[in-house]
Amino acid sequence: MTNSTVRFLLNNDVVSIENIDPNLTVLQYLREIQFNTGTKEGCASGDCGACTVVLAELDTDHAGQLHYKSINSCITFVGSLHGKQLITVEDLKDGVKLHHAQQTIVDNHGSQCGFCTPGFVMSSFALHKQKKTPNRAEVLEALAGNLCRCTGYRSIIEAAITSSVDSEEDSFAKHYQETVATLTEFQKLPAPSLAGNGHDYVAPKNIDELAYELTSEPESTLVAGGTDLALSVTQNLATINKLVYLGNVEELTTIEETDTEIVIGSALPYSKFIDTLHHYYPDLGEMIERIGSKQVRNTGTLGGNVGNASPIGDMPPALIALGATMTLHVAGVERTILVEDYFVDYKKTVLKPAEFIKSIQIPKPTAGQTLKLYKISKRLDDDISAVLAAIFIEQKSESQGQIINNIRIAFGGMAAIPKRAPAAEAVLQGNTLTKESVAQAKIALATDFQPMSDVRASDKYRMRVAQNLIEKCYLELQSRTIETRVVNYA
Ligand SMILES: Cc1cc2nc3c(=O)[nH]c(=O)nc-3n(C[C@H](O)[C@H](O)[C@H](O)COP(=O)(O)OP(=O)(O)OC[C@H]3O[C@@H](n4cnc5c(N)ncnc54)[C@H](O)[C@@H]3O)c2cc1C
Ligand code: FES
Ligand code: FES
Repeated sequence: MTNSTVRFLLNNDVVSIENIDPNLTVLQYLREIQFNTGTKEGCASGDCGACTVVLAELDTDHAGQLHYKSINSCITFVGSLHGKQLITVEDLKDGVKLHHAQQTIVDNHGSQCGFCTPGFVMSSFALHKQKKTPNRAEVLEALAGNLCRCTGYRSIIEAAITSSVDSEEDSFAKHYQETVATLTEFQKLPAPSLAGNGHDYVAPKNIDELAYELTSEPESTLVAGGTDLALSVTQNLATINKLVYLGNVEELTTIEETDTEIVIGSALPYSKFIDTLHHYYPDLGEMIERIGSKQVRNTGTLGGNVGNASPIGDMPPALIALGATMTLHVAGVERTILVEDYFVDYKKTVLKPAEFIKSIQIPKPTAGQTLKLYKISKRLDDDISAVLAAIFIEQKSESQGQIINNIRIAFGGMAAIPKRAPAAEAVLQGNTLTKESVAQAKIALATDFQPMSDVRASDKYRMRVAQNLIEKCYLELQSRTIETRVVNYA
């Protein structure tokens, strides 16, 4: 495989990088190499949004158009910039004129110490590029990954709303066609690579190149969004010898629908498939909107969420309850297994050396099937689950009432791996959903799990809440109009 340098646009300037340690984050690159210190470092772990920058990339769904997205530069490796336009807060001004996203912060008194301001401005700018007149909920969603410790959010939110409503053509709109043409040229280059400090990075363009890289060096580390992996570098100070980036692999970044399934490429970011899943399973769409922040969902992937095998990852319990399958690939050979069978023990999976997750297949719902999902965390947005319950239930009408002819209950946060609740399922399978059968299922659940205590929740809390979530599911299915969820929180 012939490789080329990592090439991208920094604002409107073409930048080519070659001899840089690929463990470097975009934030470090900006501040320490480019001396663009407008982008701030707060937490270096994706939690505060101070480091937010915007990427413009060719829109795979609309030829010749750009897609703008906010990302956390502190947890994005520099090599993933290849083929994109990196826009930072320094680039927003048009001559001496502030961008609308900046001017409205001034007009609305949206800044005090100013440390968080570049991050908020960039999140607002990305939103304003995607949507001319976003509603309040969309503004809140766009800003939920940015924290401010001194100004108070009302003026910042007002600034973002005003900016979007009154937006006018900016310098990026003026250079739009030029940017599309340059990024299109970048796309024709061979797969990029980086090497520095004895560490390597490569970004294969298709599944054959990827399989070749991994069979040649099975010890390589896969990186998709990096929203999990980069923390090992920024928080645990680890260095990764060889990174193989999945975000450019064509076959891993698609979403397809068959008559019976939704097939999601393992390296497709959440923001690209959330609407499709919301359409078929509204609870799933709502739950994904609570995975991290907009910045995290713009880069984080399903393959990374399942691949890191965390006991508190949000997608695995949902996928297990849905009976989803995953296709694994090694050196041209593929196998398809149930997501449920992927997890062996704490952070241990059935993945073999050089094998990777190619795609996840989610069955489409048929008549009588429902998926209920409950994420229990301390905050609504941008928080990790203490417990996640996923209940898939299929009922059919019989003379004695609505009989459950298929049920799968899976939990995250209740064991070393995401896993089903066989005893509770056995109580409900073939039964009607009543107060009594639900009470029995709650008792049975105590034999399914021995949860642990940690900073997020005690063992007793976890068990109590898990039992109550089965009851909540029952109540919601009894009356579809009953108010059981906090939705209007702003
Ligand atoms: C601020 C913040 C908030 C978060 N909130 C949540 C949350 O609410 N819920 C939640 O579940 N998670 C959350 N996460 C964790 C993380 O964002 C998700 O797990 C995300 O889906 C990881 O995807 P990624 O593409 O970034 O993975 P990466 O970091 O790129 O990879 C993660 C791991 O998976 C492996 N991997 C990646 N792709 C593959 C593949 N195709 N085949 C095999 N292995 C692979 C990598 O080698 C690595 O070990 C949060 C993270 C941050 C920083
Ligand atoms: S520095 Fe806090 S999210 Fe990046
Ligand atoms: S203005 Fe000080 S942190 Fe937001």
